[in-house]
Amino acid sequence: MDSDAQKTLAEVAEIVAQRGHIVAFSGAGVSKESGIPTFREPGGLWDRFEPGASSGIMGVISAFPERAPEILEELLATFRKAKPNPGHLALAELERMGLLHSVVTQNIDNLHREAGNTIVYELHGSMYRLRCLGCGRKVLREREVFLEEFSRLIAAMKKQGIQNIFSLMARCECGGLFRPDFVAFGEAVQDLHESVDAVRKCRVMLVLGTSGVVYPAASLPGYARDAGAVIIEINPNRSALTRLAHHFLQGPTGVVLPRLTEEIRQRLQ
Ligand code: APR
Repeated sequence: MDSDAQKTLAEVAEIVAQRGHIVAFSGAGVSKESGIPTFREPGGLWDRFEPGASSGIMGVISAFPERAPEILEELLATFRKAKPNPGHLALAELERMGLLHSVVTQNIDNLHREAGNTIVYELHGSMYRLRCLGCGRKVLREREVFLEEFSRLIAAMKKQGIQNIFSLMARCECGGLFRPDFVAFGEAVQDLHESVDAVRKCRVMLVLGTSGVVYPAASLPGYARDAGAVIIEINPNRSALTRLAHHFLQGPTGVVLPRLTEEIRQRLQ
């Protein structure tokens, strides 16, 4: 890290150590070093399946039904390999240090919880939770159980085709169909009230690994800034939210967050 970047990191660490009460706002970039591709970068899902991209994964599958098993198989392989990376672990450490209040994430991979953060608002839902289309009941799936069920669904889809997908899905006690509880484009986001409340009370917001182009999630840094928080963005590239950042630390979150956390720890000793 060059000397300017080191100086900025030290300045930011000083601010965070003094202010505390952090809320982290994360996007797909935070999970990239866990092997989960981002959406909008070259080679990402929307880059490769543009016609369906505007309506998310379900849109891609509707646009390319014959390729649904291949797309879902790729998604399954990615989730099977994914583990919290040093960026996720640094956020859990900041919570243990009593500095980080909560994580507001756009990601559906459950990696913030697996890393150890206990207050995680999942605006776009979670792949590891099922929602009953009949009674609305939600059930959390253990990671391995989820991966096994997902794998069986794909195998059955290969045999019987996507048109029978609904008959292949798990059922709720009420008889309704379970679907993964992620938020498809056009559906209402989850935990928005709690997220807005949290960002309005924070004194530091870490904006991590997001292009900042999807609303209402991308409106949250503006709420935090209007409420007086210091906005610190960490990203290898500038984003649509960089204009709101008081400080921009350029680099991957898996590298910068652990360094920042160490700098903060030294100031608290
Ligand atoms: N560390 C941090 N950030 C990174 C890294 C990294 N190692 N690698 C890439 N990035 C940044 C990119 O520069 C980009 O700004 O991660 C961001 C990823 O942007 P997107 O792919 O647009 O992901 P995200 O912002 O989370 O998308 C928001 O869009 O498709 C929907 O529902 C989906 O939740 C998603 C939402």
